[in-house]
Amino acid sequence: MAKAMVLILLFCILMVSPSAANTIGVNWGVLSTHPIHPSFVVQMLKDNGIQKVKLFDADSWTVNTLAGTGIEVMLGIPNYQLQRLANKYSHAKDWVQQNVTKHLYEGGVDIKYVAVGNEPFLKSYNGSFLKSTFPALQNIQKALDEAGHGDQIKATVPLNADVYESASNKPSDGKFRNDIKDLMTDMVKYLKSINSVLVVNIYPFLCLYQNSYFPKEFAFFDGGANPVQDKNISYTNVFDANYDTLVWTLKKAGVPDLKIVVGEVGWPTDGDKNANFQSAQKFYDGLFKKLASNKGTPLRPGGLDVYLFGLIDENAKSIQPGNFERHWGIFTYDGKPKFPMDLSGKGNGKLLVPVKGVQYLESQWCVLKEDMKDNSLVGQNMDYACSLGDCTSLTKGSSCSQLDERHRTSYAFNMYFQINDQSVEACDFQGLATITKTNATVGNCLFPIQIVSAGHSLNLASAATSFVVTLLILFSLL
Ligand SMILES: *[C@@H]1O[C@H](CO)[C@@H](O)[C@H](O)[C@H]1NC(C)=O
Ligand SMILES: *[C@@H]1O[C@H](CO)[C@@H](O)[C@H](O)[C@H]1NC(C)=O
Ligand SMILES: *[C@@H]1O[C@H](CO)[C@@H](O)[C@H](O)[C@H]1NC(C)=O
Ligand SMILES: *[C@@H]1O[C@H](CO)[C@@H](O)[C@H](O)[C@H]1NC(C)=O
Repeated sequence: MAKAMVLILLFCILMVSPSAANTIGVNWGVLSTHPIHPSFVVQMLKDNGIQKVKLFDADSWTVNTLAGTGIEVMLGIPNYQLQRLANKYSHAKDWVQQNVTKHLYEGGVDIKYVAVGNEPFLKSYNGSFLKSTFPALQNIQKALDEAGHGDQIKATVPLNADVYESASNKPSDGKFRNDIKDLMTDMVKYLKSINSVLVVNIYPFLCLYQNSYFPKEFAFFDGGANPVQDKNISYTNVFDANYDTLVWTLKKAGVPDLKIVVGEVGWPTDGDKNANFQSAQKFYDGLFKKLASNKGTPLRPGGLDVYLFGLIDENAKSIQPGNFERHWGIFTYDGKPKFPMDLSGKGNGKLLVPVKGVQYLESQWCVLKEDMKDNSLVGQNMDYACSLGDCTSLTKGSSCSQLDERHRTSYAFNMYFQINDQSVEACDFQGLATITKTNATVGNCLFPIQIVSAGHSLNLASAATSFVVTLLILFSLL
């Protein structure tokens, strides 16, 4: 257990952070082969009373659909654009003109923040964005100011919590990571000076994923784990401990009252043994209750400002960080809440309602033929299907992990077939496969029917930057 506790802070203090107004936002990523039409999504946000969204780029199709809704928007700038924006102020000026000013007409888009980069200081990026991020941030804010938006719209940088750490495992020993200490100190002082916020992503799930010694209950909010004692404060969950490690860090950096926003927090539902509906529901129930209580953290009592990650499952995300990456949505790929969810945290609030208007492809599935005699070609065809389709639900401990070989193959074939819009050629596999009208679903393992894609927008640049996770991301994707 002692060992477990040390590891908590080594790994998990790597992720954290909330702040003031206690409103729940969502991260709307679009790395999906079959995105739902943005206007349906926006209507769903309104139906559910969701008042804030965080985007990973400034794609005008998405941003335009938010016009006139009153929904507060955080626009994003992908990491690959940082260098350009840092190099030349005029590029930042153009960016603001094209992606901000354009939307600020009467009845336009309620833009509140511009997120400059996404977790640019992740260790796994090997320092690629250390030089460009801060100048890009300053250029964007300057351009916002010059365009006359600076009072309403603030630039910031969403950070992974690996920008700070605590060697002792106590929040009070929190400090910025050594290699970026000066940079971070300058940057938080700057954020304070422009009256902006610090955005940090917190992932208790990853504590469990990355560390088999991590005391499971400490990832949730229900108590039941050995608390971490820090002076007179007893921490019962890793979220609070991480958040307060940041609070200490900011205090030592000379900006004790810089506002903190949790840019991403959530729990995936498939692709790992700890990623399932049950754990996700437990996590969210605890989180929403905590938010409703307005208790904040021991060092920052009061409301917390958080954005859930994420809104809808994204089947085209890189699984480099883990097979759970495509399953972060609180909504399924076709816009249904994964389980009853009451964002109000009061237990009597409205439950999330689904996206309306989603259209499905035909009710037909691609499966392995029944009368197969020669199985020698199955393996390679399954590998092919999985390399282009999404087989993450077959992962050990996941929703389809119990299938036998035959059904596993059918699952893979079907995922490939659906992703290819059910084209007849996509259900051949050297003659092994056949199309059936009989629902191929096996038990809890759903064989999905894909939706009619809204087309557009599989932006691989933002693919690489929109997922969150810590140490494993491949820079090469950028
Ligand atoms: C505006 O944002 C879009 C989407 O993120 C980006 O592709 C484009 O380059 C931006 N415009 C400018 C002038 O930088
Ligand atoms: C812990 O001690 C500090 C000062 O020593 C005090 O301000 C604070 O209220 C105490 N917190 C708790 C939870 O007792
Ligand atoms: C197939 O069956 C599953 C399990 O009963 C169900 O959830 C799913 O909606 C069905 N699919 C279609 C297209 O009817
Ligand atoms: C970072 O450095 C490590 C070790 O040298 C290397 O394996 C990895 O590919 C590098 N990643 C990037 C994004 O350059």
